[in-house]
Amino acid sequence: MYYPVTRPRRLRSSATMRRLVRENHLRVDDLIYPLFVTAGRDVQEPIESMPGIYRLSINLLLAEIAKVQSLGIPGILLFGIPDSKDAAGSGAYAANGIIQQAVQAVKDKFPELLVITDVCLCEYTDHGHCGIVQEGKVLNDPTLELLARTAVSHAQSGADIIAPSDMMDGRVRAIRGALDEEGFSGIPIMSYSVKYASAFYGPFREAAGSAPLFGDRKSYQMDPPNLREALSEVEQDIAEGADMLIVKPAMAYMDVIAAVRENFDGPLVAYNVSGEYSMIKAAARLGWIDERQTTMELLTGMKRAGADIIITYHAPDVVRWLNENV
Ligand code: PBG
Repeated sequence: MYYPVTRPRRLRSSATMRRLVRENHLRVDDLIYPLFVTAGRDVQEPIESMPGIYRLSINLLLAEIAKVQSLGIPGILLFGIPDSKDAAGSGAYAANGIIQQAVQAVKDKFPELLVITDVCLCEYTDHGHCGIVQEGKVLNDPTLELLARTAVSHAQSGADIIAPSDMMDGRVRAIRGALDEEGFSGIPIMSYSVKYASAFYGPFREAAGSAPLFGDRKSYQMDPPNLREALSEVEQDIAEGADMLIVKPAMAYMDVIAAVRENFDGPLVAYNVSGEYSMIKAAARLGWIDERQTTMELLTGMKRAGADIIITYHAPDVVRWLNENV
């Protein structure tokens, strides 16, 4: 009779045994919850392609954050939907802009919660691009100043972490310099260092009304097949002063997360984007997959790939699932 010498199955024999030898864990401390804030009062507009996610006016945002806080989620990522848009995206850096008002209200009521603000122009420009446009081109350098102004105005409103998502070259340095000059040298930058031109942002653009009116974002966001380029973006952002790095999207880029992990020892963030959320929701609604199990498997996979932190629209669900502990 032949007996296998090694029997990996020994360590899979019971739930308790599997718990003991588990290598990676998803924890409440890992999670950041993205939220959309809009003008008005008592506004709660459902986003059709993202069941369970809403555009909230500030008063309802505060109510939602009370829940987030009681679940123990350490941070939120705020996206603003302004009343009006213009060519220069002036709502992004207006002293009384939607994000500036929301951050003040949130920090006032929840001083402990980490408020992270997305710094970009696309939600605020009438053309929907992430920078200043001239003759159909998205200009890099003139955009930097506006991004820096946006970041400073977020910090002045009380933001704890600044997250630039525009993909202009040199923006981390521009933002770092402006923050330092204005007395915010202690505010960290969580840079969307590796952000691909992805179709998985579709539902977000519905949510934020930020789809570009002409063309696409391929001249500034990364080309999905590229990996070495991601490492050079990472190198640049570290040199420019980024404190934490984001890889976005996550599901189709697990190899990128793993490669960045090899090259960066600071906090690494995976952004589980809108389209990833919508796919799970849609298939779960049809009864084709189990929402809880597939979500936990995907998010734990991001941890296994090397992420420390996960930005996910599923954050409150994940905490409830973790607490059920089944
Ligand atoms: C703004 C921004 C986008 C997302 C985060 N910040 C949209 C885009 O780049 O088109 C996408 C997030 C998601 O899909 O969940 N530039």
